[in-house]
Amino acid sequence: MYLFVFQNLIIIAKNRRWVNLLSKKIFCIVKLEEKLTQNHMKLPIIIVNFKIYEQAVGDSAVALAKLHEKVAKETGASIGIAVAAIDLQRVSEAVDIPVFAQHIDPVTYGSGTGHILPALVKEVGAYGTLLNHAECQVEDLVLEKSIKMARELDLFTVVCANTPEKGAEIMKFNPDLIAVEPPELIGGDVSVSKADPSIIEKAVRLIGKNRVLVGAGIKTGEDVKIALALGASGVLLASGVTKAADPYAVLMDLVSGLK
Ligand code: G3P
Repeated sequence: MYLFVFQNLIIIAKNRRWVNLLSKKIFCIVKLEEKLTQNHMKLPIIIVNFKIYEQAVGDSAVALAKLHEKVAKETGASIGIAVAAIDLQRVSEAVDIPVFAQHIDPVTYGSGTGHILPALVKEVGAYGTLLNHAECQVEDLVLEKSIKMARELDLFTVVCANTPEKGAEIMKFNPDLIAVEPPELIGGDVSVSKADPSIIEKAVRLIGKNRVLVGAGIKTGEDVKIALALGASGVLLASGVTKAADPYAVLMDLVSGLK
């Protein structure tokens, strides 16, 4: 018996690198599960990026956020929103669903004119942050620092990538989720789910299950359903809701695709 244990200890010691890697991975999965259970955030999730659409900033941001909260409460669906930095505090105070910043900069208190301070984002009540959105891309070094800083502050990170390959590469920085969005489809009428479903399959294969959101052109429950059927854990969208004549109806339809 002792010999058996001893032999195994030797094998383990020889494979320390593997053990380290494995325990790191297990730790990340446990951490992700922990974070997901806070603030009613669970997978699959729909995250609506308000961007700086006129219909989704200032007073309208608060009203639209409340509509998202209403749908989340009525249906039990997991819905998050990403709002402009200037609206973060008001929106976070107004609703009880996960509120994300659209971006943070890897800066600390001090001289940093115009930057978005992660510590303040946390302090005003944000749950997490988007990073590297196609409309706000950053160098890898900056991204790595931003993710690290977000993790230290316990801000949930959803990092955008233009391609599944880039998403897989970003995984080395250990973000919580990757949102793959083909830039050419962003803001358009055809969703990634319908235009090129192979992107979703590839993203899940390269990045891993429970780690991938997809976005660009998503507007309907059917788009959501296709994305989930291909292994995605949710969607990231904007104009489908922010520009809709009836955002409540669109949200209800989107949520129907989660089932
Ligand atoms: O962040 C979501 C976004 O880039 C997709 O935008 O308007 O195509 O849903 P949209």
